[in-house]
Parts: sequence; C-alpha cells; structure tokens
Amino acid sequence: MELMTSFFNICYLRQLFLRLNTYMGLFIKSIKGLIQTEEEPKLKVCGRNMSILNTISDAYLIIENGLIVDFGTMKDLENKQNKSAFNPEEIIDASGRFVFPSFCDSHTHLVYAGSRETEFADKIRGLSYEEIAKRGGGILNSAKKLHETSEDELFNQSIVRINEIISLGTGAVEIKSGYGLTLTDELKMLRVIKRIKNSCPLEIRSTFLGAHAVPLEYKNDREKYVDLVINEMIPVVASEELADYIDVFCDHGFFTPEDTERILMAGMKYGLRAKLHANELDYSGGVQVGVKYNALSVDHLEHSGDSEIEALRGSETMPTLLPGSALFLDLPDPPARKMIDAGLPVALASDYNPGSSPSGNMKLIMSLGCIKLKMVPEEVINAVTINSAYAMGISETHGSIARGKVANVFITKEIPSYEFMPYAFGSNLIETVILKGKVI
Ligand code: NIG
Ligand code: FE
Repeated sequence: MELMTSFFNICYLRQLFLRLNTYMGLFIKSIKGLIQTEEEPKLKVCGRNMSILNTISDAYLIIENGLIVDFGTMKDLENKQNKSAFNPEEIIDASGRFVFPSFCDSHTHLVYAGSRETEFADKIRGLSYEEIAKRGGGILNSAKKLHETSEDELFNQSIVRINEIISLGTGAVEIKSGYGLTLTDELKMLRVIKRIKNSCPLEIRSTFLGAHAVPLEYKNDREKYVDLVINEMIPVVASEELADYIDVFCDHGFFTPEDTERILMAGMKYGLRAKLHANELDYSGGVQVGVKYNALSVDHLEHSGDSEIEALRGSETMPTLLPGSALFLDLPDPPARKMIDAGLPVALASDYNPGSSPSGNMKLIMSLGCIKLKMVPEEVINAVTINSAYAMGISETHGSIARGKVANVFITKEIPSYEFMPYAFGSNLIETVILKGKVI
C-alpha cells in the first residue's frame, strides 16, 4: 500500500512537471534533513559559528547542469509549483534519509606505490615514526617503491583508492607529490594526479611536495637537496602547470623553517601558494612560517600551544587537523577545542597515505574529530565540508548546499539524525553519491 502511494506520488510529480514543461536534471524530494544549507555562502566558518549547522527538515533539492539550483522545504515547493516550471529527468525520494554536501578532503598523499604494513608492525613493536624514517623506512621506503613502479601502474593503484573514497562520500580531494624525491619521479607522480584530474568526476587539487624527506644521498647535505627542489624541480613543475599548491614537511628531522622559507619564496614566484606540513613531530616553527607566507593551510599541528594559536588568529591560514595520522602514530591530539574556543576555524582531512594514515574515510575522520578532539557533530561537519573546501581553495564552489554551487552531495541510508553519522563510527551509511549532478 505504502509502495503504491509513493509510486502514485512520483507519477503525479512527474506529470505535474511535464505539464509545466521546463528542463530540470535531478529532483531529490522528501529529504529528512538537508544539511549545511547556506542562503549567503561564506568562505569558511570560525570559532563559535562552527557549532551552527543550517539544516532543513522535509526538504527538496533541485540540481540542473551539474549545479545546485534550488532547495527548501517540501511545503515551499508546493507554493512555488504554481509559479515556476519543472521537468525533472530523475526523481529520488529521500524519505528517512539525510543529504549532505560531499566531503572535501584537503590533505592526502593517495598517489603511492604498494603499502607499508611491515612498518605498521614495527611501530607496534615499539619503533617510532622518526626511528623508522632514520633507518631508510617511511617516506624513503615509499619513494623506492614508487621509483620501481611504472606511471600506468601507479595510476591504476591510485584509481582504486579514488573509487574507494568516492563511495565513502568524498567529492573533492587534494593530492600531494612527495614520494618521488627526484625530478623524474616527482613529475611521474604529478602526471598521475593530472590523469586522475582528467578522468574522474572528483574535484582535484594538486600539491608539489618535493621537500617531503631528504633522500639518503643528501643525508649530510640537506641544503643541497633544498637547492635541487628550488632550482630544478619548481621551475619544471610550474612550467608544466602540474601543481596548484606547494608544500614542505617543516618538522623535526625533516626540513627547518629556514629551508621552508626558501622553498616557499621560490614557489610563490611561480604563483604556488603554500599548504604546509607543520608541528606534527615537534614545535617546529612551521605554523609561524606558514602564516608569515600567507599559506592557505597549515596541517597536522599536534604540537601547538598558545603562540601557534596566536600566530593563526586573524590570518587567512586554515588550521587543518589530521586525526587519522595522530591516531595511527599515537601522537598527542592537536588542540582543536582550544583553537575553536580562541575563535579560529578548524578543518579536518584524512592525510590518506601509506605511512601515517592508510585510510581516506572522511566519515571516520568526523568520528575521530568528535571522540579524540572533542568537537561536537556540527563542528566536525563544518570541518569536513566548508572549512576543508577553504583549505583547498574551492569554498566558493564546494563545501555547502548553496544555489550555484557544484552539485556534489551524498544521500545517507535511513538514519535517525545527522549526529548518527559520526556516532556510528564503523558503519558505512552512505547510500547514493552524486557528483557534478550525476548519480555515480
Ligand atoms: O602527512 N608527515 C609527513 N607526511 C605524511 C606521512 C607520509 C608517510 O609516512 O608516508 C603525513 O603524515
Ligand atoms: Fe601529510
């Protein structure tokens, strides 16, 4: 009986729309909760505003030509139907389900070769991330594997991860180089990222991270490797337009704030804005350098205190926390609560990589944001949508449900509330993925 009624409703709506005779792509109706709607879109949300999440109950969403064109309550729509015209190609009934803007994952290293589960076992037996790196493991291990892998094979391995994160609700992702560490292999990685950009429906941003680790042959002459990054890698990467941003692993045992400044200045000459790895392993000075050079984001921040928070206050730099790697490496948790209470914005990202966070599951990142970082569900939802969109430079077009934004959304399974998403941390609750207006 219920089935008959809903069948009748869909037929009725279709007929009504056909009569009114205007093209429309996709109509999602009877949505239990439409999450993160904005009438006046903002580029990011800060401090107390992070706990505000606009949500419409019993809502509709209209998508046309890949863009969000309208949304509101079903009741609003009834009133509108007399005035405007619709002709949907496809109608989805989202009764009992929530519609979210897709996750924006603003920090990943998901183009890599093979995996590093043997180091995972070493870590369990007591070795630290830095000790593993010193033995030629860690990033250098991934660089060796990547060197031995062809570009096609690297692409094939990476596409598996891309398809996985699409099914997990991610609609935009930043991907870094940094497992090449030679000009040829860095270019190999960046070309794979470009191929992914051209062949998959996700929104992609690419970051050049030549200064991810010091290769063994430069072990005693780090500055010479920094020279190579500046003089040989950056000019080619820029001239081939292979990167949107530039990154440096500014941390204890990797690159110093002085190295970082030199690299950022060189990148900025080519229009590459910074997104830094900072303060993961120590109070490295990375946050301050990032703010000084107006980085789009500074990421990790497990070692951050009052002076880092003070440096970030009033800046345009998004503090981006990566609770997956803090969990996996058993690092101290970054002070999310202190940052938000000080009025800062916070973004969350997965850091998907083979060494410190072998997962691109942004729903799990939301759960870790709540459980480990003590952020409330509204804050984590803002942190994985609008603020992480800001941290990859796309918040004008992505990261919320707003008219004119790209129609990247997902529909959940039947769930009782939006808080259920971070709460049910082990369940896959995403039923339908829509990217650029198309059901995937
Ligand atoms: O973000 N911290 C530096 N880079 C990565 C780890 C890369 C690796 O171990 O392969 C990170 O955690
Ligand atoms: Fe990282």
